[in-house]
Amino acid sequence: MSDDKDFVKAKIAKHKIGSYGRHIFFCAGPSCCDEDDGQKVWEHLKGELAEKDPEKKIFRTKAACLRICKSGPIALVYPEGTWYGNVGKKQLDKIIEQHLIGGEPVEELMIAVNPLASDSKD
Ligand code: FES
Repeated sequence: MSDDKDFVKAKIAKHKIGSYGRHIFFCAGPSCCDEDDGQKVWEHLKGELAEKDPEKKIFRTKAACLRICKSGPIALVYPEGTWYGNVGKKQLDKIIEQHLIGGEPVEELMIAVNPLASDSKD
């Protein structure tokens, strides 16, 4: 049990969890887009963030499915709760620059918006 706790603590420290400004979830298929194409965009995301986010303020997670399953790849960015569709490399570059780094969602690429409430009882 203690080993598990130490492992989790080490992972949290390694990934700097607790210091992120934004989190992008990315679905690379297989239902919303061709899986090979989606994987190429995911690899592009990893490369771009490694280069453009050296302080690791942006966390990325590859999601198995974001339940849209059409017009992908699909991306979701928190804390704004901005959903994007048809995210190819060109669209992703704009999302990285304007939203993930710049803080301004890319309206023309959005398919939905659902910011999370600070009090879910409302
Ligand atoms: S497979 Fe991508 S949203 Fe479902």
